Amino acid sequence: MSMPTQEQISAVLGEIQDPELHRGLNELNMVRDITVEGDSVRVLIALTIPGCPLKSYFTDVVPAKLRQAFPDIAHVQVDLTAMTEQERSALVGGLRRQQATPFARPDSSTQVIAIGSGKGGVGKSSTTVNLAASLAKQGHSVGLLDADVWGFSVPRMLGVHERPTVVDNMIIPPEVFGVRTVSIGLFTGEDNPVVWRGPMLHKAIQQFLTDVHWDEPDYLLVDLPPGTGDVSISIAQFLPGASMVVVTTPQAAAEKVAQRAGFMAAKTGLKVAGVIENMSFFRGDDGKAYPIFGEGGGASLAARLGVPLLGRVPLDPALRELADVGMPVVLRAPDSEVAQALDTAAKELVNLLPPRPRPAKRINLPLIPSVLPGKHGH
Ligand SMILES: Nc1ncnc2c1ncn2[C@@H]1O[C@H](COP(=O)(O)OP(=O)(O)O)[C@@H](O)[C@H]1O
Ligand SMILES: [Mg+2]
Repeated sequence: MSMPTQEQISAVLGEIQDPELHRGLNELNMVRDITVEGDSVRVLIALTIPGCPLKSYFTDVVPAKLRQAFPDIAHVQVDLTAMTEQERSALVGGLRRQQATPFARPDSSTQVIAIGSGKGGVGKSSTTVNLAASLAKQGHSVGLLDADVWGFSVPRMLGVHERPTVVDNMIIPPEVFGVRTVSIGLFTGEDNPVVWRGPMLHKAIQQFLTDVHWDEPDYLLVDLPPGTGDVSISIAQFLPGASMVVVTTPQAAAEKVAQRAGFMAAKTGLKVAGVIENMSFFRGDDGKAYPIFGEGGGASLAARLGVPLLGRVPLDPALRELADVGMPVVLRAPDSEVAQALDTAAKELVNLLPPRPRPAKRINLPLIPSVLPGKHGH
């Protein structure tokens, strides 16, 4: 006869879900004691409410599961207790926080990709906007959250300036070029500086993730502020499964940027997926590539971080001129070298982080078509 250890029993109990909360018993901290004596096992389970109508679920399922996993168990006794008021509210608070951000759900079909950089002015926003437009052009549904609250530039680059419509406390993100977008700039206007500090910013970012009808796009790109500040940490907290792409220039000291990116990834838990080098060279009328800002920064940063270099984007005045009139270069001049480099980077990104399968149908879909003008890319 071989009886399982407490750890082995605990692992099996963790696979059992609470029928109402749809989370494993260990995650919900419901298993309070496991005793093994001879061929008998005793398990103490704390229910969320004392008179829980699902009592018999546990007294049936727990013994069945344990005996199935460990045939040598002869007897399973399930004792039930109830959580204290305090334990219960901690549990509910935790669940609410998790559910509040749809992208944080384990079955979310959205790939969240944050675009970061060591410092400002490297072309992070231009890259983000063009990647978003390129992904949409390739047929993916795309959201773009401008999280650079102090230095927002997405509204200008996409040419969106209207205040978004609000329906039933849900913000409807304007959609341009197949990209749904939200920015603090849509609410404050370009001339009003944002003076909020940490807690307010945290709240604003949370609202952008929870109160915006993003409608589960294939990709949600997030234009992070430069550096490793509060906002980036907030984002990471709300988006535990997100990846990060680092934009850099050829001359940036790879060592420094890598250090910062590594620090940021460690601090936020975001996983760095790749590097994009911007302003890599200027193609002269003579057909030669001039490395205006030096060479090699992107490749050495990628090597240091152990991730692929997704693209080298040339300097092209057209990119800036078009950005200033709200027109992504990948759409307006798709055959240009700069657009091709950005399209390639977007495709590399799709290879690395393919769209997640969509659940066949969510059970909680409304039976009546939603009044919200949300669209699906496919
Ligand atoms: N590859 C490029 N070619 C020409 N101009 C560029 C390129 N990338 C960025 N720019 C311009 O450089 C400026 C800074 O870019 P931006 O995307 O706002 O940087 P960041 O978001 O990193 O601060 C903008 O005026 C932008 O149009
Ligand atoms: Mg920017």
